[in-house]
Amino acid sequence: MDKSFNYIISPELSEYKRFSPKLKIGILASGKGTNFQELINLSQKGEIDIEIKVLITNKEDAGCIKRAENAEIPYKIIRAKDFSKKESFEVEIINTLINYDVELVVMAGWMKIVSPFFINKFRNKIINIHPSLLPAYKGGSAIKDSILNGSKITGCSVHFVEEEVDSGSLIMQAALSIEEKDDLVSLSQKIQKLEHKILPHSITLAGFLIRNDFMESY
Ligand code: GAR
Repeated sequence: MDKSFNYIISPELSEYKRFSPKLKIGILASGKGTNFQELINLSQKGEIDIEIKVLITNKEDAGCIKRAENAEIPYKIIRAKDFSKKESFEVEIINTLINYDVELVVMAGWMKIVSPFFINKFRNKIINIHPSLLPAYKGGSAIKDSILNGSKITGCSVHFVEEEVDSGSLIMQAALSIEEKDDLVSLSQKIQKLEHKILPHSITLAGFLIRNDFMESY
């Protein structure tokens, strides 16, 4: 990893007002779970007032599972292939989130498109992190696409999840330069470093909006 890579972000997480009681969140993840881990770390250090109620993953071998086990966070593996209809798969996820009483659903590397049925159940209460400066490079190969397209700048975005994929209202973005020497691995690492910064901020901002009923009238 390029150690000289630095970032500026303001305000710092510590400058935000705190949540009391803690914001109850549910994580949806399909992969390694480094964003999930960052949330666990910040929460354990008391730097963000979230209670991670449950991790839901659609992959039985996803790295995020071990992270949940280590942090003693309840988790559930819900695989689409175990259901005959997409709606039944989503009902299982919805019921789990409701049972754990989550206020905010955080897609942290969730690689499955959710239907309008799902979105309606948590309208304005689902956020997603994506490795590009949306609206550029939507979809599942955003980092690769930005390199192949010769972009000089990229980054990451957190947005509310709405019906059109990777198109909901933006909460926060962070940008970085793509260097000549960057490849998929180095660029992914740089983007993830920024993701680990903007996801906690975005959870905090989304939490304020939800707690103040702002999104109800939006
Ligand atoms: C993150 O880079 C996130 O932006 C991306 O998956 C990665 C998960 O990393 N999400 C998408 O591409 C969604 N379209 P993690 O499992 O280490 O947190």
